Amino acid sequence: MCGIVGYTGPREAYPIIIKGLKRLEYRGYDSTGVALQNGGLKVYKKKGKVAELEDSIVGKDLHSNVGIGHTRWATHGEPSDRNAHPHQSSSGRLAMIHNGIIENYNQLKKELINKGYTFSSDTDTEVLLNFIEEIKKNNNCSLEEAVRVALKRVTGAYVILLLDSEDPETIIAARKGSPLVIGVGKGEHFLGSDASPMLEYTKEVVYVNDYELAIVKPDELILKNLGNEKITPYVQKLDIELAAIEKGGYEHFMLKEIFEQPQTIYDCLRGRLDATEGTITMSGIQQYAEQIMNANRIVMVACGTSWHAGLIAEYIFEELCRINVEVEYASEFRYRNPVINKGDVIIAISQSGETADTLVAIENAKAKGAIILGVVNVVGSSIARMSHAGAYTHAGPEIGVASTKAFTAQLAVLTMIALKIGYIKGTIPHKRYMHLLKELQEVPEKVAWTLKHSDNIRALAEKYKDARDFLYLGRGYNFPVALEGALKLKEISYIHAEGYPAAEMKHGPIALVDENLPVVFVATKDSYHEKVISNMQEIKARKGKVISVITEGDDASTALSEDVMIVPEADEILAPMLSAIPLQLLAYYIGVVKGCDVDKPRNLAKSVTVE
Ligand code: M6R
Repeated sequence: MCGIVGYTGPREAYPIIIKGLKRLEYRGYDSTGVALQNGGLKVYKKKGKVAELEDSIVGKDLHSNVGIGHTRWATHGEPSDRNAHPHQSSSGRLAMIHNGIIENYNQLKKELINKGYTFSSDTDTEVLLNFIEEIKKNNNCSLEEAVRVALKRVTGAYVILLLDSEDPETIIAARKGSPLVIGVGKGEHFLGSDASPMLEYTKEVVYVNDYELAIVKPDELILKNLGNEKITPYVQKLDIELAAIEKGGYEHFMLKEIFEQPQTIYDCLRGRLDATEGTITMSGIQQYAEQIMNANRIVMVACGTSWHAGLIAEYIFEELCRINVEVEYASEFRYRNPVINKGDVIIAISQSGETADTLVAIENAKAKGAIILGVVNVVGSSIARMSHAGAYTHAGPEIGVASTKAFTAQLAVLTMIALKIGYIKGTIPHKRYMHLLKELQEVPEKVAWTLKHSDNIRALAEKYKDARDFLYLGRGYNFPVALEGALKLKEISYIHAEGYPAAEMKHGPIALVDENLPVVFVATKDSYHEKVISNMQEIKARKGKVISVITEGDDASTALSEDVMIVPEADEILAPMLSAIPLQLLAYYIGVVKGCDVDKPRNLAKSVTVE
């Protein structure tokens, strides 16, 4: 989320920064900005993509040898000119860009407001910058020292780059939890969220570690920890092509996004879930807790993969909150003249936040008095703005057309909402609540484990790539996962696939089963497991090829399966976040071995803004 670039040296900084930002646009493109040292600080910023900023400043004097640039994926404050980075401090002396989230920014903001500060944006970045300026002023210290003191007070994640108009050759940088690479040239230095902005100038780079601070001048790079001790920079030689680094070294965005899931789920839980204290902090949901708790029904409205997340949430909400839940295709719901009573709660689920059917469906429901909650990935998107409240999924920009990391992040958010409401309502016993919180916190690790144990899936793709059809089966929480697995395979590999509740199979689809049909069971250990084993027997008896997603060590399922994909043990409510992963990989690898364009499958678009 957010791309950052910096340069200090003898070259013109602006073209280096602009080119670098274009390469980092995959990280977000809500707004763009640059700050240049040019006889004082010159800041240009604009809502929209890098090209839009470029067009808007044609003809300006952009000469400078030192500058910083930012492409934003909005978190705090909607995408707008005023929320765009760089931000300037109250005095105008400092300019800063930031990637990350300052979790305690509200507390810091209150302190600054009490001291008379005012703010011109909604960002946590502007708060941190003024906090740094205040420390510098109060302690009469160097900027470097002020940054160090400030960062000791900060919780959250950041990479920051700072310019000081009174020290025009220097860039101060620091990181915790977000990436920062410094390129070392001859009498010049480059900074970036990844190495792509500097690749044609130098292959020598330093990867800055958490809690390190860099003082970067044209011919000097000083690295320190937050205790002011010097660290010798470890210079590494890059051996990568430009095209590869844009996808973070992955062959496709889809694969990169599948492998990002331990981090994206972690990001989604971070700052919200506290398994020790037993709390879930979601201010938007808190605001409507009473209405959600007392709602006669909740309607999940979504399309595609997001609709599958809604189906899983139906099981979770009914179990934990004892509220009647319906799950609707937005495209049907919007035209069906549904009965909506005042106080009905609609949860709109959408990665892009721009899906036209979902948007109109909630618009109609809102007009009839429903409360609209958004579970959306793209900050400031239309669905987010149309909703009364909600919770962002914080999965970062999803570029591959097939939704992967957004799906698991939606599940994480919906689970947190259900836990929060169920607990307030008293429908989840305390012990179970605490157990689920602890298990939820462990999900990122378990997803990482699943990915580590997925090596065999490429071989499975080779083995099954020529199948004409696939059947995906699951029960309970894993039934929608079967639907999602089938959708992934269809859109990426163009193989026909159907998802069914495993028990429903005998009412029709079983007629399809013969020795040529791969049948993928989502069969993790849960309360339905024995019944799923019986369904496997039924397929095997008809010579179908059983491929199963199983819990590690499940010998009974292994014995009945031709091939297995394993996930670690987890509570059945949380299992879909794990069992979805091997199915994403299976679809991905089958698409790849069939030579399909997995990032841009035919006839599809990332965001469906037409009905
Ligand atoms: O942006 P949204 O979540 O609203 O998009 C909904 C669907 O268009 C989307 O999930 C689509 O089905 C994906 N291509 C699935 O991978």
